[in-house]
Amino acid sequence: MRWDVLLKIIKDNNYRSLVEVGTARSNNVSKILESIPDLSVTCIDPYMQYSDYANDRNAEKKKMTENLRIAKKRVFSRDNVTHIRKTSRGAVRMFPDRSLELVFIDGNHRADYVMDDVQMWWPKIKPAGTLTGHDYKIKGNHKGVKEAVDRFAAIAMLELVIYQDMVWSIKKA
Ligand SMILES: C[S@@+](CC[C@H](N)C(=O)[O-])C[C@H]1O[C@@H](n2cnc3c(N)ncnc32)[C@H](O)[C@@H]1O
Repeated sequence: MRWDVLLKIIKDNNYRSLVEVGTARSNNVSKILESIPDLSVTCIDPYMQYSDYANDRNAEKKKMTENLRIAKKRVFSRDNVTHIRKTSRGAVRMFPDRSLELVFIDGNHRADYVMDDVQMWWPKIKPAGTLTGHDYKIKGNHKGVKEAVDRFAAIAMLELVIYQDMVWSIKKA
């Protein structure tokens, strides 16, 4: 699963922190914290409806409220977890360039949003840090992820690695 991949990346690189863009009910972060309880985690999710974000069941308002409630209870209440209730674009400016070890992109899966995400977050990654994300799919309603990530990696001439459970990853030199 995606958390197994992230746990391996964290352990192999001795990372101490993770930023997740798009947390929903925190299934991923909860699993990671079960294995590394003291990892410093920042979750970015606005839990809001907007017209461009309507491509899955998480976009329903009732579902958002429920997801936020669950995430608060499971992880946002922990001392080592920070929730930033903003969109990716709104939150990214809070981080200095080259300050982050590991960012996991799993927010709006439309190609233009994913392209924005990878372009905005890449400069925030430290040398030897990793930009990664979910739903690198060949077909179906999330194929925008592959489209954007492939284009970004090709333009920037970066090595893209694909893991199990549709996780993509790019490590900074
Ligand atoms: C697929 S879910 C995340 C699942 C979670 N990462 C996991 O693995 O368990 C996508 C989440 O992205 C959030 N989202 C949508 N647009 C976003 C944006 N522009 N910036 C940040 N988060 C966004 C939604 O509110 C939703 O909760």
